[in-house]
Amino acid sequence: MTDPTSRERQAFGAAEPDVEQIHRQIVRELADPAEGYERVPVFVWVTITTLVFWAGWYVGARGGSFDTQTHVEYAQAGPPGAIAGDSARKGPVDAIAEGKRIFGANCTACHQSTGLGIAGAFPPVVGSEWVTGPEQTVVRILLNGLNGPLKVKGANYNAAMPAWKEALTDDDIAHVITYIRQWSPNAAPAVSAATVGTLRKQYESRSGPWTEAELKALESAPAAAAVTTTTTTP
Ligand code: HEC
Repeated sequence: MTDPTSRERQAFGAAEPDVEQIHRQIVRELADPAEGYERVPVFVWVTITTLVFWAGWYVGARGGSFDTQTHVEYAQAGPPGAIAGDSARKGPVDAIAEGKRIFGANCTACHQSTGLGIAGAFPPVVGSEWVTGPEQTVVRILLNGLNGPLKVKGANYNAAMPAWKEALTDDDIAHVITYIRQWSPNAAPAVSAATVGTLRKQYESRSGPWTEAELKALESAPAAAAVTTTTTTP
């Protein structure tokens, strides 16, 4: 053994207890870790501190100053309870984007987010001849709803389409119709709020939904067509 302590022990005599050596050992060795009281590694502290700072920054930068309205995209217009578009918003609107939003909020429950409906229950709006046909017809459907047997893309339906004249404004109806009329492969021209307004006024007193037969009759009646064409030219 070349350990200096053992040489020292020889020099001072083995009989004496080597106090120094005993204390050196104590100083050199760390206390045995007791279970449950191990030191937390430094990297854990560094990680926690970094996370706390990051979280603070995140809330500060993205928290919207704890404003409850931050995530309300549009203020609700119209009667409470109605999921309506916001016609009170000022400025030019993108009809397609607005229409898409209105469709998402009001129509997808039945016609699905694909616009393809559900076979046998809800007809498709994408690829539908009703959507791309005469604009007055689709406006009538939206305003008053539709009931009874209906053929869409050669398939038969017989259910109830709700009326939207109470829940949606002329602008909303024009936007949502414009949106579905241009939903590929649909490619029909846009519909104006003025057209919707004219038809709304024309059928003000009508409360019930349309039937397929009524709509077809109106489409082929020259008088009705003439009335709506003259009043809907922009
Ligand atoms: C509660 C379910 C329901 C909702 C919500 C609904 N529809 Fe319909 N829709 C129907 C049904 C059912 C028919 C077919 C009615 C029939 O069989 O006579 C229909 C028919 C139609 C038609 C004519 C047929 C076709 O598929 O082209 C159009 C256009 C239409 N809906 C557009 C809309 C739009 C736009 C909205 C949203 C503003 C909407 N619907 C919301 C159930 C719904």
